[in-house]
Amino acid sequence: MMEMDAKIQELDRRNNEAELGGGEKRIEQQHAKGKMTARERIAHLLDRNSFQEIDKFVVHRCHDFGMERKKIPGDGVITGYGTVNGRKVFVFAQDFTVFGGSLSGAFGEKVCKVMDLALRNGAPVIGLNDSGGARIQEGVMSLGGYGEIFKRNVFSSGVVPQISVIMGPCAGGAVYSPALTDFTIMVKKTSNMFITGPQVIKAVTSEDVTAEELGGAMTHNTRSGVAHFAEESDRDALNRVRELLAYLPQNYRERTPDTTCKDDPDRTDPGLNELVPANPRLPYDMKDLIRKVLDDGVFLETHQHYAMNMVVGFGRLNGMAVGIVANQPRFLAGCLDIDASMKCARFVRTCDSFNIPLITFVDVPGYLPGVQQEYGGIIKHGAKIIYAYSEATVPKITVVTRKAYGGAYIAMSGKHLDADINFAYPSAEIAVMGPEGAANIIFRREIEGAEDPEATRDRLVEEYRNNFASPFRAAEVGYIDHIIFPEATRPRLVKALEMLREKKASIPERRHGNIPL
Ligand code: HXC
Repeated sequence: MMEMDAKIQELDRRNNEAELGGGEKRIEQQHAKGKMTARERIAHLLDRNSFQEIDKFVVHRCHDFGMERKKIPGDGVITGYGTVNGRKVFVFAQDFTVFGGSLSGAFGEKVCKVMDLALRNGAPVIGLNDSGGARIQEGVMSLGGYGEIFKRNVFSSGVVPQISVIMGPCAGGAVYSPALTDFTIMVKKTSNMFITGPQVIKAVTSEDVTAEELGGAMTHNTRSGVAHFAEESDRDALNRVRELLAYLPQNYRERTPDTTCKDDPDRTDPGLNELVPANPRLPYDMKDLIRKVLDDGVFLETHQHYAMNMVVGFGRLNGMAVGIVANQPRFLAGCLDIDASMKCARFVRTCDSFNIPLITFVDVPGYLPGVQQEYGGIIKHGAKIIYAYSEATVPKITVVTRKAYGGAYIAMSGKHLDADINFAYPSAEIAVMGPEGAANIIFRREIEGAEDPEATRDRLVEEYRNNFASPFRAAEVGYIDHIIFPEATRPRLVKALEMLREKKASIPERRHGNIPL
């Protein structure tokens, strides 16, 4: 009995040692930077008392640079599983207090173990990143660890949701694990991501840039589009993970669980009849429209600060999770440029991977004309939208609120890409191009030869708009399934979605498609 007590005490001692990570002083330093410790982060992320830790006593195997004398149980990463809102998740949290959260061979194996468990058991993986990168003392063992993680990120892609939270440094090749996951959330001021830091950049290109400018949360949320969310604090970032998980299924075989909806599915909103201005040149906020339609007006926008001419995010309709894609007339008139194309295509593929129906609101004057857009490859990037929508077999419902011109009409979940139900508002203009451009081409001679070319152009543009830039031509040939009263958007969408709940569709058999990259 005494012997057993001693063994339990030994376990207690070792547990306490592991839970202290790099020690009190380093924990204080972590707090002084405004950061939580890895354990505090896990406790905040998961449901109370649900965390089950594994590999708590793993240590590194490095014998160089005196490392054999420096072993800390857990070796700088805390791994295990637990629940978020009662649903199973796997988690790893890099512990900056232990060797700067740097990745050793043993550390890599711990992360791979939870990733393997997640894949086999069909549940999301959440990675909390706060690390100095490859553990320099371990050399190639560390590189191998990264490689194994990257491969698992790829094999898990489209099988289980993967979410990365960047809560400190994330540099060098380490950035590629988050980049391979579905969503990246960054904490403002305390996190950064770059493949090479400011000093190396200064030496190589003579450019002066701070770490924050180069790879801070807002840089990656506005300019590069690498990150999907920028949060004020660790706490906010972890809350965001919980919120995001609610819209995702556990894995590709499942559907996101429905919630009980208190918002009337038949609710009409007369305000929607006024929201789209009659003057096609006037902007409006597409997000107002989205919120008026979704359950309780709740819309979780992802990639909010990037390519703002395109809006993407999650919501619910009568309790069913949906992915929203919409043009935003407030920015660049809602046209499709390179960034908006990548943002849209990526989101469509994320939803399709995880059985989340797509609702698309269209008000698009076309792809953005311009030399820089052409040089940047708008042809191949714009093609991504067409590819993603064509390939998506989840329910696809489209609402044309105003403009739907040319290639952009097809790309934005047009009927021809196998959208299931296509609605249009009476204000919709569906045509090869906008009335001004079209009239200038087909009535050129008539305008040039007129006594008053200006007045003639205006008259012909109006004539074209009335005859061709309307939803009725498209409805006559069945490209639009129904022209709806804007106020009835929500009930129309709910009923279409319910009709499509058991949709079965497939694409031709192949090894894998070859999306233009
Ligand atoms: C080993 C490391 C480490 C690393 C930090 N530490 N990074 N130990 N390998 N990569 C240790 C430090 O020696 C220090 O230990 C402790 O962690 C805290 O680090 P500080 O420098 O005191 O903290 P701070 O001032 O906050 O700076 C954090 C930092 C800096 C910006 C991350 O440590 C840093 O620049 N580290 C090196 C980053 C790097 O170049 N990594 C390799 C990238 S290449 P003591 O005991 O002294 O307190 C890479 C390749 C991956 O990752 C390839 C994958 C394919």
